Amino acid sequence: MTTPPPVLVVDFGAQYAQLIARRVREAHVYSEIVPHSMPVAEMLAKRPAAIILSGGPSSVYEDGAPQVDPALFGAGVPVFGICYGFQAMAVALQGEVSHTGLREFGGTQLSVTGEGGVLLRDLPEEQSVWMSHGDSVTAAPAGFTVTAGSPGAPVAAFEDLDRRLAGVQFHPEVAHTVHGQHILKRFLYDVAGIEPTWTSNNIIDEQVEAIRARVGNKRVLCALSGGVDSAVAAALVHKAVGDQLTCVFVDHGLLRAGEAEQVEKDYVAATGITLKVVDASRRFLDALAGVTDPEQKRKIVGREFIRVFEQAARELEAEDHVEFLVQGTLYPDVVESGGGTGTANIKSHHNVGGLPDDLKFQLVEPLRTLFKDEVRQIGAALGLPEEMVMRHPFPGPGLSIRIIGAINEERLAILRAADLIAREELTAAGLDRSVWQFPVVLLADVRSVGVQGDGRTYGHPIVLRPVSSDDAMTADWSRLPHELIAKISTRITNEVREINRVVVDVTSKPPGTIEWE
Ligand code: XMP
Repeated sequence: MTTPPPVLVVDFGAQYAQLIARRVREAHVYSEIVPHSMPVAEMLAKRPAAIILSGGPSSVYEDGAPQVDPALFGAGVPVFGICYGFQAMAVALQGEVSHTGLREFGGTQLSVTGEGGVLLRDLPEEQSVWMSHGDSVTAAPAGFTVTAGSPGAPVAAFEDLDRRLAGVQFHPEVAHTVHGQHILKRFLYDVAGIEPTWTSNNIIDEQVEAIRARVGNKRVLCALSGGVDSAVAAALVHKAVGDQLTCVFVDHGLLRAGEAEQVEKDYVAATGITLKVVDASRRFLDALAGVTDPEQKRKIVGREFIRVFEQAARELEAEDHVEFLVQGTLYPDVVESGGGTGTANIKSHHNVGGLPDDLKFQLVEPLRTLFKDEVRQIGAALGLPEEMVMRHPFPGPGLSIRIIGAINEERLAILRAADLIAREELTAAGLDRSVWQFPVVLLADVRSVGVQGDGRTYGHPIVLRPVSSDDAMTADWSRLPHELIAKISTRITNEVREINRVVVDVTSKPPGTIEWE
């Protein structure tokens, strides 16, 4: 795929690299993550527009702490060191890093020295930054100007404009550093001289061109799940090759209220895509009948999905040969699987890696270089329905793992009704974006006593599980306003006859997971 010269974010292994790479993209500059073990020659072969050294272990003097090859700084490529990267840069260029005993963790006051150089010019003399270090740079390397300090870091920012090298002890990528994004942009635009051209429209143009070149006049197939990734991937491919693309939507009957219609009507209306809908809900429900074990449910949904999709693919193949299969693989999947090579990276049931040998497709993965936020922006730029583009993550096995107990049509209807109320009220409160995901879970095998009108009830509890998270690896329970919870609770118990109790899950992850099953 054609992408602009990247800003390489060198990953020192402390989970900051992805965040930095995202912030660079938010500044409309293309970035890629590379491991610190990559030799400098290999980094330079990528013709980087700049290199950013990320945070990492607490001390450059730790046993086995990764070092930076000084050759990196003599190649004429602009380099920005952050936290550990800043110290590693200082050491490599013969500055001084010491155990001062002045550790700093968390919000810290930064004091700008003099004019603040290019990075800190015109910003407040005192500003709050996020620190996380034990050692400190005590003397900047020759040729560098020190532009800021903090109580625990005598040298907290430096730059050498002649060599286009700069660094900061704090973390500009985290939101707690008030002017962090500004400082990062100063490096990218003013120190490194990069133009901010990485925009949705440019990404779309580049991808469309690349897809056309790859696909030619061959036929392409894509499975839509109702989720953002497959919807955007298919829309991009459709923009590139039009009716050479056929989408298949397997309705497994486990989606939430309105979601199947969104795919079948709104999405098709917005894109003009040729869609083959397979209503397989009966088949999935039959296969799931009586099953209560969560992993068993997952296996069954995955297996049935592949069987149904395979059948649909064969029917299309019988009409005319299909060469390519679209997958909505995102950049974090590529990074986490070690860079990947374009072979199927099977993560959820919507991927179709289990297809038999006579149905082998070449993969088209137009989102491989993109983060989720970028995928959403591209979806919006392509005119996809807002509800689809902004949708919270939703698991492949759908509502089957949000009913604790066996699945049947009646239970699904109860859960759908309650879930719809929760979603409506969250949206009405304007809180969709501050919540990562809001599972609503039906405890179908539990009953409790209640009273409604004049009568005793014996209904099911429903669990509200709103969580905040960055990547679903860890999560915290969302502190939703009490009035909102009250409204959801009242509406659910009034409007969904079978529910007589609403509870809120206040467990973080770990120890809880986001889903109950
Ligand atoms: P947990 O429950 O493990 O979920 O904290 C982490 C994230 O993954 C989603 N999830 C799934 N997604 N198939 C999927 O496609 C699954 O079987 C599955 N299980 C959990 C969950 O919604 C959350 O975003």
